[in-house]
Order: sequence, then structure tokens, then C-alpha cells
Amino acid sequence: MNLTHKIKQRILTEGDLPFTELMGMALFDEEFGYYTTRRNPIGKQGDYYTSSHISAHFGELLAEFAVRVWKELGTPDRFYLVEVGGGEGYLACDLLTALRRNHPILFEKVRLVMCEPSPLLQGAQQTRLREFTSQVTWSGLSSLAGNPIIGLVIANEVVDALPVHRLRYRQGQLEESFVTVHHNNLALRWKKPSNPIAFSTFLEKTGMSVPDGYQFEIGLNAISWLTDVAKALTAGTVLIIDYGDLSDHLAVEPNGTLRCFYRHAVNSDFLERLGEQDMTADVNFSALMVYGTELGLKLVKLDRQGDFLIGLGLLEKLEKITDLEQDSLAALKERLALKHFLVPGGMGDRFKVLIQKKV
Ligand SMILES: C[S@@+](CC[C@H](N)C(=O)[O-])C[C@H]1O[C@@H](n2cnc3c(N)ncnc32)[C@H](O)[C@@H]1O
Repeated sequence: MNLTHKIKQRILTEGDLPFTELMGMALFDEEFGYYTTRRNPIGKQGDYYTSSHISAHFGELLAEFAVRVWKELGTPDRFYLVEVGGGEGYLACDLLTALRRNHPILFEKVRLVMCEPSPLLQGAQQTRLREFTSQVTWSGLSSLAGNPIIGLVIANEVVDALPVHRLRYRQGQLEESFVTVHHNNLALRWKKPSNPIAFSTFLEKTGMSVPDGYQFEIGLNAISWLTDVAKALTAGTVLIIDYGDLSDHLAVEPNGTLRCFYRHAVNSDFLERLGEQDMTADVNFSALMVYGTELGLKLVKLDRQGDFLIGLGLLEKLEKITDLEQDSLAALKERLALKHFLVPGGMGDRFKVLIQKKV
């Protein structure tokens, strides 16, 4: 049995599946999903890099952001940091290490909650965070929603992993991509949409207009996820970092933004290597802002990641490394890593940072 076989079995009993179900199983099937079975998905041995794997300075700069949020909240005695989808735990570890070194008063008051659905990644996080054991717990995001906290919620490259619906207009009619079985193989076909009211509400609210024939994605799961995030906070800030754009910049490619990553190469073989490759779509930041406002999350700012990091001291860090250790190989590597966040077309350019606040 493999995931392709499991999906075929499901289609034979339940009928054709909306594409979002395929994506959900590809990433999170209990037995065969990418995040449930892939060891080290991120980094050199994996399929892609994230900012936290590029440089520890990323987590260190986010520590400065946490200090700002703590101060804005009036320096409470207990300050919760929630990391949703923390992957292998690099960001949380770098952030706590920086707080301990540079902001010991806040460090004592911090409790870290990791919300990670993959047991495999939870294990990696427990190992990486073992020196902070007394300050860290693991929780489901929905349990946290029933027990809200004051603090900062961080989600770095998480929303792009939430399964999306794939759609298109054909002669003015909305159609949705479904997975079917054809000659004993998985195949995609366009059908009437499974949830037309939710889709048209989404398009209307986010102001997304799509040329006829162009494929595009709608992230209803991102909205339910944001609902849980909003419920998890009594007061504080939500920081979402991801690639993506505003609605009117998202429907500009005929094939949409959905793509797979396998061993650092991008492909659009959505029915191949199921559970063995990452699948992701650009985040619709207009949707997070519009629905966020309805959920009580006030928009503070949408920024380029590069500008956000510069605001937290990226250039000063670069200058310091250059001054102190000009000749060492380690310093050279660090400088190159930081430049990923600064060069045009690099991570600082392609990624956006959304800051929302609950007061
Ligand atoms: C691309 S990885 C990013 C990991 C990490 N934030 C980093 O910067 O390296 C996506 C992460 O989101 C998690 N994830 C996916 N769906 C999730 C959900 N519904 N709730 C919480 N985490 C989720 C995955 O298990 C994984 O940890």
C-alpha cells in the first residue's frame, strides 16, 4: 500500500475528491503524508530551505520583535510565544537563545508553546529545544483556542502548506479541480465547484478577479486556521511570514501558483511522488487581512521580509560581522546567508510579513 493506492481506494468508495483533499493527504496523511513521514524535509538533505534554516540571525532578529511586542503589552509577567508549524525547531531555538543572551528579564517570563501537527517534527523540536525544556510545551492550535494567551504567535512558512482548492472560470462558469480514477490511474478533471457560496464570498471579500481560463487557488483552510489563531490570543500580535501577495497579484499566471518541491527543484507533477514531495501555493495576504479584521485581528502592517528585518537591525548585524571577523570563513558564510534577505529576488524580496494585533 502507498498513498496513491490509498487515494484510489478512497475515490472508489467516496467518489471524486476535491483537489484540496489530495493536497491534505499528500502533506498530512497519518501513514504516508509528507510532513508525517519525511525526515528532514527542510535544508540541504531535504527539498527546500526556509529562512530559519538559512541563518540563526533570522530567529535572533525575531527575538527583537518579541521584545517590542512584550513592551507594547506593558511588560506582562507571563509572556507566551506560540510558534505554529515550527518545523525542525530552528527558529524557536535561535529566538530563545537570543532572548537568554540579550534580554534575560524577558527570557525568564517567556513560555514557548509549539503547535506542530507532525509527530515526527514534534520529535525533532523536542530534541532541538531540550535545553529549554522547563519553558516549552506542545499543544494543538485548537486546544490553545480554548485556553487563550497573551503574547506573540509566529507562523513562518506555514500558511503556504495549508491545502487549497483549485479553481478556474470557463466561459464565465466557476469550475473546481477534482481527483478521479481513470484507467486505474489518478487523474485530474474539472467539475462543478464543491462549495460555490464560500468560493464566491471569498472572491468578493478579497477583491480577486481572475481572467477566464486561468487557474487559481482559494485557501479556505487558511481562514479556519486564522480563526483558531485569533481565538488563541487574548491580547497580542500575530506574525505571519510567507511567500504570496495581495489578491490582485495572484491570478496572473495561467496555471496558478500551486507547485511541488522535490530535492530543491520545483515541479507541477501534482499526482506524482505523493507524500514524498512538498506541495505549496502562494498565500493570499488580502484574505488574511480581510478575514482577520472580521476575527478581531487589526491590521498593523504588510511588509517585504527584507524591510521588516532591516527594521529589526539586519544591516547593523551585517556591519558587525564585517567589522569583527572579516577574514574568517565562518564570517563569510554568515554574511552570505544574511545577504539572502537583502538581494533583489532573494528571500527578503519574495517573502512578505503580515503583522496583526488583537487588543
Ligand atoms: C514549510 S514547513 C516550515 C517550518 C518552519 N516554520 C521553518 O521556518 O523552517 C511547514 C510547517 O507547517 C506545519 N503545518 C502544516 N500544516 C499545519 C497546521 N494546520 N497547523 C500547524 N502547523 C502546520 C508543518 O508540519 C511544518 O512544521
